[in-house]
Amino acid sequence: MATADYNTLIPNNVDLSSDRRLQRALESWQPRFIEWWKMLGPVAFQDHDVYLRTAISVAQDGWANFGYVKMPEYRWGIFLADAVPGRKIAFGDHMGMDAWQEVPGEYRADLRRLIVVQGDTEPASVEQQRRLCLTAPSVYDLRNLFQVNVEEGRHLWAMVYLLHRYFGRDGREEADDLLQRHSGDQDNPRILGAFNQATPDWLSFYFFTYFTDRDGKFQLASLKESAFDPLSRTCEFMLKEEAHHMFVGASGVARVLQRTVDLMKEHDTSDVAQFGGIDLATIQRYLNFHFSVSLDLFGAETSTNAANYFAAGLKGRFHEEQRDDDHQMKGERRMVPAFESAAITEHEHASLTALNEMLREDYIADCAKGVERWNRILAGVGAELRLPHIGFNRHVGVFAGQPITPDGNVISEGGWKSGMASEWIPIDSDKEHVQALMSGIREPGKMAGWIAPPATGIHAKPIEFEYVRT
Ligand SMILES: [Fe+2]
Ligand SMILES: [Fe+2]
Repeated sequence: MATADYNTLIPNNVDLSSDRRLQRALESWQPRFIEWWKMLGPVAFQDHDVYLRTAISVAQDGWANFGYVKMPEYRWGIFLADAVPGRKIAFGDHMGMDAWQEVPGEYRADLRRLIVVQGDTEPASVEQQRRLCLTAPSVYDLRNLFQVNVEEGRHLWAMVYLLHRYFGRDGREEADDLLQRHSGDQDNPRILGAFNQATPDWLSFYFFTYFTDRDGKFQLASLKESAFDPLSRTCEFMLKEEAHHMFVGASGVARVLQRTVDLMKEHDTSDVAQFGGIDLATIQRYLNFHFSVSLDLFGAETSTNAANYFAAGLKGRFHEEQRDDDHQMKGERRMVPAFESAAITEHEHASLTALNEMLREDYIADCAKGVERWNRILAGVGAELRLPHIGFNRHVGVFAGQPITPDGNVISEGGWKSGMASEWIPIDSDKEHVQALMSGIREPGKMAGWIAPPATGIHAKPIEFEYVRT
């Protein structure tokens, strides 16, 4: 196992001190990162003590430390999962050959692009969430927000390390640009659409961490299969942290639902907004929005780029190595959603070109599991949440801009516009109501009235622990 060096400016298990040039380059990038964090990270609490988890090694047990830290002093480090000795490429044209420890010249541009696109999402979400600390529903939630934020910062470090270490001067320039693009910036926005949307309130935050961080899980999982071994090992370790982000989303939505159900029972009405809760109809609209926006992140249904990435061994399928097939897919065909003559239909395509769609389908199946768990909370009031149809509110691919309802019906342009304005995605009154509920709770253990307490605290601490010293 690579030993972690925790006593240097940049904690790492990549033996950074043996490469002076690289170390100096990253040490000169670091102050710019801190400057970015202070300018575009959380708008408050920067000099408060926060009870945070910090990655300190990649060992199965005890990979992280918990303790109070002021966020700008967080030890953002570079950690790659342990190398698998003799690892072979598991799919594509180079299957069976040794995994690459350096970047092959012919794949340099494609690999750099994949790393930059992934890297760009990490600081983007910190920027999107920067104002939420003012309105946290509890000190417990405030801490979880900061945990997600610092770890997205570490994910940025992970990608920046790869760019600096393996891509020379253009890698360093790309690393600089990752701090120059900003979420929602008119002139220099983040690369992907969902990462330029605001995260204006905590209901949005929970759905974002459930749906959009889960896109991250699927992208990282397919990059973890990469023939480029350092990328594979980087993503494997990032996935470990990512699990907590999705927990924040899944449990956050569950707690909102629990509170809504409690209020529905107590007052015998579904209109709980008047009692300081959030109606199920509103919650469903938030779900529709965040799910549909996240579906776009997987790209067009068919893509020759995706086929080329797979054939080259750059990006595999979800759980590639566990799949029971030839890992080549040459000559294979499959059905892919299509939209023709105002109807939702399907077309047959080469499986290799349909990889984006396959990953999206795996993602949807994973999303559905959480919805099922949420619906157990709603069973007592005879209600349920549903994932909208794959064609609803899409901006990328064959369904982009098509008038498809959440139920999957194709309707008139006029009917669709009025549904969008009044029924299917958060409407002004939803946003105003949710916004009005947002108030920053600073007293440990106390919860805002629209959300139930969590089942347990963090790291075996009680719920009323002072997770942030305010
Ligand atoms: Fe991340
Ligand atoms: Fe994340």
